[in-house]
Amino acid sequence: MKAVVITRPGGPDVLEIRDVAMPEATGDLVRVRVRAAGLNRADLLQRAGGYAAPVGSPADIPGLEFAGEVDAVGPHVRMWKVGQRVMGLAGGGGQAEYILAHEGLLVEIPENLDFVQAAAIPEVFITAHDALFTQAGLQMGERVLIHAAGSGVGTAAIQLAHATGAITFGTSRTASKLLQATPLGLDYGLSDQNFSTDVQRLTHGAGVHVVLDFVGAAYMAQNLEALATWGRLVFLATLGGSQATVNLGLLMGKRIQIRGCTLRTRTLEEKLAVTRRFATHALPLLANGKVKPIIEQTYPLHEIAQAHVKMGENKNFGKLVLVLD
Ligand SMILES: NC(=O)c1ccc[n+]([C@@H]2O[C@H](COP(=O)([O-])OP(=O)(O)OC[C@H]3O[C@@H](n4cnc5c(N)ncnc54)[C@H](OP(=O)(O)O)[C@@H]3O)[C@@H](O)[C@H]2O)c1
Repeated sequence: MKAVVITRPGGPDVLEIRDVAMPEATGDLVRVRVRAAGLNRADLLQRAGGYAAPVGSPADIPGLEFAGEVDAVGPHVRMWKVGQRVMGLAGGGGQAEYILAHEGLLVEIPENLDFVQAAAIPEVFITAHDALFTQAGLQMGERVLIHAAGSGVGTAAIQLAHATGAITFGTSRTASKLLQATPLGLDYGLSDQNFSTDVQRLTHGAGVHVVLDFVGAAYMAQNLEALATWGRLVFLATLGGSQATVNLGLLMGKRIQIRGCTLRTRTLEEKLAVTRRFATHALPLLANGKVKPIIEQTYPLHEIAQAHVKMGENKNFGKLVLVLD
């Protein structure tokens, strides 16, 4: 089968399409014929040598999410039949013609979505749903600040928060992305320069209940200033640095909770649970069109390097998706 292969750590030029061995479906594993696979920021990090695949995932084939048809099932599989349309999370290996997945990590693709749309869902919608509702406990009517509002995860988070009745604030370094996010349910689009002052002004000093952050150190001080009393701050990435100075007095005074979170490194049991929660609470909104995957561009497999360049230059609003024949 054909697969994207990271031949060595480096820039987009280290990516090659190679013929690799096809995996066999054993035990409770399902083999999926991948029709489309989402690109994620983590793929760029892995390509550069900074984010090794977890044990059990292919070390050199990237791809954290995929959509396709069930092609073969292991002898213990009970949930799926050959031919069903499925999407799912992976620790890696999604950018290949076939992938093996635990049967409980697959979700049936709603009828209204095609493979490209489905491939843009698992990583960003499961991450956003888990971070907002399970980790931060976002409630109806609360105010939430979502950084990198035009990112794949950001566009999912804005829609899920809006759909649940939260009031959404978002930042981006690119003004046009804030305009693009408005129809998704972004109530207040802010420059990232003085966002804490803007949040305080717009909320009459009350602050936001939840912050979803991908930037880290560079936003730390402003995040604490923007939060309300009993606010919750969830870190999902450190695009702007991982070493920060924290004003512990402010943290204590506001009774702020800070939590860091990753999806890829979780145990199988944790991934099964997070997938089930997504399927129960978020999938119906995707199936009835209330929220939707946001796709900037699709690429054939052999243009994988171009997709990496585009994401590396921060030019995507929403997702970049690879299409496999
Ligand atoms: N913890 C987890 O489980 C988990 C799961 C999924 C994703 N993530 C992380 O979440 C982030 C978003 O992922 P994605 O795939 O949705 O990314 P993406 O679509 O590539 O979007 C990332 C956006 O972040 C903004 N950005 C980049 N560097 C920045 C910086 N130094 N300071 C401020 N903004 C910056 C850029 O937008 P503008 O500059 O135009 O604003 C960029 O387009 C990534 O860092 C990813 O690794 C974490």
